[in-house]
Amino acid sequence: GKGNHAHFMMKEIFEQPAVIGETLNAYFNPASRTITIPNLPWDWNDLSRVTIIACGSSYYAAMVAKYWFEQVARLPVEIDIASEFRYREAPMPDGGMALFISQSGETADTLAALRYCKQAGQHIASILNVSESSMARESDIVFPTLAGPEIGVASTKAFTCQLVTLACLAIHAGVARGAIDHADEARLSSAITKVPEMATEILNNDATIRALAENIHEARDVLYIGRGLDYPIALEGALKLKEISYIHAEGYAAGELKHGPIALVDKDVPIIVIAPSGALFDKTASNLQQVSARGGRVIFLSDRDGIAAVGHDASAVVELPKADPFVTPILYAIPVQLLAYHVAIMKGTDVDQPRNLAKSVTVE
Ligand code: F6R
Repeated sequence: GKGNHAHFMMKEIFEQPAVIGETLNAYFNPASRTITIPNLPWDWNDLSRVTIIACGSSYYAAMVAKYWFEQVARLPVEIDIASEFRYREAPMPDGGMALFISQSGETADTLAALRYCKQAGQHIASILNVSESSMARESDIVFPTLAGPEIGVASTKAFTCQLVTLACLAIHAGVARGAIDHADEARLSSAITKVPEMATEILNNDATIRALAENIHEARDVLYIGRGLDYPIALEGALKLKEISYIHAEGYAAGELKHGPIALVDKDVPIIVIAPSGALFDKTASNLQQVSARGGRVIFLSDRDGIAAVGHDASAVVELPKADPFVTPILYAIPVQLLAYHVAIMKGTDVDQPRNLAKSVTVE
């Protein structure tokens, strides 16, 4: 059932502190503060590259993973959308590893891409929420996301649990490859252990986000921008909004704004700026100022320090807990889910069963 929530989507958003914790527990040993993954069929040192393939929100999780693996494990990552990859006849590295991300484990294009990589002699790994699925059966190893059944068509808790799993894998690879040491491993994994409590804090602030939805539900277009690890969250936020509220929304890498999309900015276009404080903050802050100087209505998602720096240039702010930059994509996924939900409710759409969409896309 939906518990005391009106929709499965909201119930699943609110389950995130619990299921993020459970997923982390599957990969993290708190006593030794290490990531433990038994029976890996490959040695991270033997890989010249990892290929990660998925669709939709699961693909955005792959985008975040690319940043994590490259930063933390110094391991090159190629990512692709399954429907593109499967027909590309891509050359694959000898003895390589291909990783598939899917909530359902049944997505037709992702399964076809998996079969292609298997033919090409890759180790096949999957991050799946449904462990009795086609992809599970055809993989050499499955990394489960312990999100529990996800009923709402829009992925929420499965997405954040995919991120947790990917973060653990990146740390594991980093240690194995000598790119980070045990102290780094302990620091990064303890940053993940703090996510459930911070997620609860964000959920407790839901009324602030619901109030912002008032400013958005009549918009025709909404832009989301982010940079680095938070760029895929801009894409995810835009996808969530368009799929359940039917408002046209686009996510952009903040640095791409001036290469075209800034032409869309006027007083009627809300711009959601996702910018936790950290190494890239000043860059995105200057993008924020560029859009607000052109009359854009900026809704700024950041932490105390970010808001102190440029919050006055925004029309509205949402303050999130200050976190290690490594985990911000997991945390910032939550306010964009809530925003999409509240906007959809105001528009009166069917949030759990949006038009034209299916939970499991088993045909291409
Ligand atoms: C978006 C959404 C879809 C799925 C995509 C892949 O909210 O749910 O974009 O992420 O259809 O599905 P899975 O992960 O089952 O392969």
